[in-house]
Amino acid sequence: MKVTIIGAGNVGTSCASLLAQKDIVKEIILLDIKENFSEGKGLDISQMLPIIKSNTEVIGVTNDYSKSNNSEIIIITCGVTRKPGMSRDDLIKTNAEIIHIVTKKSIFFSPKAKFIIVSNPLDVMAYVSYMTAKIDSYRIIGMAGILDTARYRFFLSKKLNISPIDIQSLLLGGHGDTMVPLYRYTSVSGIPIKEFLSEEENDVIIEKTKKGGEEIVNLLGTSAWMAPSASVIEIVEVILKDSKRIFPCSAFLSGEYGIKNIYLGVPVILGKNGIERIIELQLNQKEKNLLKISANHVKSMIEKLKI
Ligand code: NAI
Ligand code: 2OP
Repeated sequence: MKVTIIGAGNVGTSCASLLAQKDIVKEIILLDIKENFSEGKGLDISQMLPIIKSNTEVIGVTNDYSKSNNSEIIIITCGVTRKPGMSRDDLIKTNAEIIHIVTKKSIFFSPKAKFIIVSNPLDVMAYVSYMTAKIDSYRIIGMAGILDTARYRFFLSKKLNISPIDIQSLLLGGHGDTMVPLYRYTSVSGIPIKEFLSEEENDVIIEKTKKGGEEIVNLLGTSAWMAPSASVIEIVEVILKDSKRIFPCSAFLSGEYGIKNIYLGVPVILGKNGIERIIELQLNQKEKNLLKISANHVKSMIEKLKI
């Protein structure tokens, strides 16, 4: 079993390290365009393996896609990150060109791979990868909702003084200011969240969640990578174990929620084939309106690109 990670920056390296620690794949290829960078990162992670008791082989390569051949999963984390004052959308042109090129090269060597897209702006990059790869959309998954719900669960856990592990939630829409965390679908060990806090109090947490990425950019001067990479590896593990778990992921919509021809965050069942089903929730009018705003925003970003 081989997993290739394109981009050996903060997110890519952290994904390689977390995945190696799980000891569930035979080989991880870490590829970057920067000369010798992946090789160095690969060696550092490899030298951790005797200590963490993992047999996974981690191989760093500079732009050599032949080493990625027949990967089960390709994780795309390359491109530029936002700096303080920038939005994810400011990255669109540079990253679209990068995602187009790396998808083309990756699919050539791994025609059966599932793709997990991480680069921003996420929903647009997942779309670019899909348009480039020309494969079934269920094999291209955008990672954002797991991260955004993790932030939401963390902030809720602090407010309620309850373990974040026991907070379940769902989120719809694009990865950005228009994301739609769902109060009605949030619970604590099965107890509806409304038993713990009002919708108004929850709205404050939602605003904090929407700004969760920005808060870290302002503190670090670049974007987050620990929680993002843990979110990616959650998807990898579910696919490899075919465990049919439900997560919010960016998926290609063909009429679900009345939306067509874009990637957008929705609850999906993940398994060995990638996205095995998109779950359509019965939304109320407020939720429908918010989702429409989010979809329109992603559409307008896609229209800026001439693919
Ligand atoms: P980083 O700057 O640490 O790493 C990016 C790496 O991509 C660099 O090592 C660079 O050399 C490499 N790269 C650039 N062009 C390449 C190409 N053509 N082929 C191969 N490698 C190439 O950035 P970081 O923090 O790892 O973030 C990566 C991307 O992921 C950014 O676009 C960021 O906004 C996004 N991101 C998305 C998240 C999400 O929730 N979807 C969460 C966190 C980051
Ligand atoms: C985040 O939300 C950068 O999109 C990334 O942290």
